[in-house]
Amino acid sequence: MATVLAIETSCDETAVAIVKDREVLSSIVSSQIELHRTYGGVVPELASRQHLEWVNPAIAQALENAQMSWDEIDGIAATVTPGLVGALLVGTMAAKSLAMLYHKPFLGVHHLEGHIHATYLDQPNLKPPFLCLLVSGGHTSLIHVKASGDYTTLGQTRDDAAGEAFDKVARLLDLGYPGGPAIDQLAKKGNAKAFKLPEGRISLGKHQGKGQGAKYHPYDSSFSGLKTAVLRLTEQLKLEGPLPTADLAASFQSTVAKALTKRAIACARDFNLSTIAVGGGVAANSELRRQLTAAAQSEGYEVFFPPLELCTDNAAMIACAACEHLLLGRSSSLQLNVQSRTPLEKVLSLYEPVPAV
Ligand code: KG4
Ligand code: ZN
Repeated sequence: MATVLAIETSCDETAVAIVKDREVLSSIVSSQIELHRTYGGVVPELASRQHLEWVNPAIAQALENAQMSWDEIDGIAATVTPGLVGALLVGTMAAKSLAMLYHKPFLGVHHLEGHIHATYLDQPNLKPPFLCLLVSGGHTSLIHVKASGDYTTLGQTRDDAAGEAFDKVARLLDLGYPGGPAIDQLAKKGNAKAFKLPEGRISLGKHQGKGQGAKYHPYDSSFSGLKTAVLRLTEQLKLEGPLPTADLAASFQSTVAKALTKRAIACARDFNLSTIAVGGGVAANSELRRQLTAAAQSEGYEVFFPPLELCTDNAAMIACAACEHLLLGRSSSLQLNVQSRTPLEKVLSLYEPVPAV
């Protein structure tokens, strides 16, 4: 068994959690949404400053909520990549200092590996291999989870991430920031069939057939064409009268859910994976949950969506990934630096064997 305190400051949530293997003992998430709302998106400099102010109280609160002292903590972790460098530095420097002070192993965690692990907190018996559909503000990936630290990205977005598309379309429709939850809410009042929008298929190349015989990359997605289609439609509809925002939101959301569902099912089928775990902020989307659950049921796949608070950024998922590495005898060097991006395939380069004491 391993108990880890983890700090997550990769973007706009200051989060600290204590996890024992796959059990959450405490989880604090302080959202900076209000701070960034006026700017319509995350302002990196403001995010770092807010993390600095909030990180120490969040650590104290996490320990208090779990009723634990430092003696009971086996390792201290922080998200080291990918993310905003200044923001990542705050959590990482805090974790390294505490690791030195209390003589504990330090673990630098890959944020996307954290999102994969969110499902374990809800499904402690889940074991690889499985397919993870990771849909967040920065990523849209289909990941073959083969073993701890052994991941292959089978599909990704060619342009905007799914969450980014939600945020941009929400801005177009004047729904504010963050866009995903706003579109999800408004779409409940709209007709998803009101507008037919492009799903964004990716051609494998111009020499590989056109028209009916065209070949497409089956697992990659593209949302920039869809976003532009919503923009054009919005411009045209504005000339005709009040904007039918609920119908636009519902049609857009349903198109994204359809594109993601198709790709996830095709990928699971082709790679013989019977389980699909969904992670990332967009996994909170009600229409994606509905469409993917229905498709998986009818095709005989098991699908897991973590509870909403584990879909969006949190430190419990980071601690869970760190517990797994610690139990396998891995920890990170205090020299490990934060990085704005690192391929998921390189996760094990963040670790070295725990030195014998
Ligand atoms: O995983 P996350 O919290 O942060 C990143 O690592 O990016 O994801 C944030 C993204 C935002 O783009 C937000 O609009 C989207 O997740 N999101 C949603 C929903 N809740 C959050 N998108 C669609 N429907 C939702 N209910
Ligand atoms: Zn995230």
